[in-house]
Amino acid sequence: ASNAMWGGRFASGPAAVMEAINASIGFDRKLYAQDIRGSLAHAEMLAATGIISTADQDKIAHGLNTILKEIESGAFAFSTALEDIHMNVEARLAELIGPAAGRLHTARSRNDQVAVDFRLWVKDELFRVAEALKGLIAVFLTRAEEHAATVMPGFTHMQSAQPVTFGHHCMAYVEMFSRDLSRVRDAIQRMDESPLGAAALAGTGFPIDRHRTAKALGFREPTRNSLDSVSDRDFALEFLSIAAISATHLSRLAEEIVIWSTPQFGFVKLSDSFSTGSSIMPQKKNPDAAELVRAKTGRVNGHLIGLLTVMKGLPLTYSKDMQEDKEAVFDAAETLDLMLAAMTGMVGDMTVDADAMKKAAGSGHSTATDLADWLVRRLNLPFREAHHVTGRAVALAEARKTTLAKLPLEELQAIHPGITADVFSVLSVQKSVNSRKSFGGTAPAEVRRQVRYWKKRLAKG
Ligand code: ARG
Repeated sequence: ASNAMWGGRFASGPAAVMEAINASIGFDRKLYAQDIRGSLAHAEMLAATGIISTADQDKIAHGLNTILKEIESGAFAFSTALEDIHMNVEARLAELIGPAAGRLHTARSRNDQVAVDFRLWVKDELFRVAEALKGLIAVFLTRAEEHAATVMPGFTHMQSAQPVTFGHHCMAYVEMFSRDLSRVRDAIQRMDESPLGAAALAGTGFPIDRHRTAKALGFREPTRNSLDSVSDRDFALEFLSIAAISATHLSRLAEEIVIWSTPQFGFVKLSDSFSTGSSIMPQKKNPDAAELVRAKTGRVNGHLIGLLTVMKGLPLTYSKDMQEDKEAVFDAAETLDLMLAAMTGMVGDMTVDADAMKKAAGSGHSTATDLADWLVRRLNLPFREAHHVTGRAVALAEARKTTLAKLPLEELQAIHPGITADVFSVLSVQKSVNSRKSFGGTAPAEVRRQVRYWKKRLAKG
């Protein structure tokens, strides 16, 4: 049989494989609530502008609400032959209310319908992501406050660089996830325009009121160009970009947790609820959740590249290619939600071993820069010369298999006669960290100040 929606010009129905490649109901059924909301707003506007009767609008609204209940209770029979969520809903509406159902699609196309449904969905998802990010940031703020003075090694090239505090390290992630949060808010602002009423691509001759539907659906205003309205998928790309950047932040953190939780580092212990054992090696406690956060980033990043690639060759306006936008976004959203939840749990639950961190902080001559700075401050050496003198002290400590702080004063004086016992006051990791009071530096007082700043800023919403 030919299609009920456009059977007028078709003598026969689609091949089975045509139906299989064409149908999106398997995934776009996720848009059912947005689709029904959009149709309710559209029908209300059609009646308010006199395009359909209020009697028909009543029937349509009643039927749509019934369908919503059917879908939510699991009673709704989705059909692949009906292609997508839009036609599934409309066909059921016709069964429920008869000919009035045929009036709902006046001054509308599936092109603006899908654009509005999908925007509504992505906007809702961004609000969910914002809440999840705020939850993760709150956990980091708590941990940063607890560990504002806990010394750990800071790394560059994964080599010991200078001592920092674990609180400061946590606050670095607060900065990253806060930028993600601000990207979410910016994107919501930009996508807060309703494409409904653009119709197929050119607008419509019916006297519709797009401001009315925009407002009813919670958008700031209608989009301004009908061609752009049905072909724009930037909002989906922007969501995927935000998701990819945030996932990348989560993945770097996950990688650090994997490293920190090795017995060789021993900086953190994951809780039993966020680790797994081995079926053969009884001693093992594996950071699977962190590894999966790291791995799932590949999926999220892939979806961004996938949709960019789908869109890049499309002439205006709608092409069926655009139907491929949904699985990418749905999977990225589901994956990101899970990653954020897992990371929030892991970071909140993990035990920090301050002693192990402090011990490691002193290794690798991590206070060498403090020695060089001391030479500059006390002996007025140019920094480059101080660097050279310090390098010799480090080489000596290496040769003696000891640390800078444990070198005898006479040996240091053999390298530079101006060195006095006062130098030892800067060689401990705690002193090193305490001294770095510059704005944004790692000194505990500065870390606590940054925690207060973010708490206040986040409380403002
Ligand atoms: N299922 C389609 C999509 O997701 C809906 C729009 C179809 N429009 C069309 N002209 N074929 O993009």
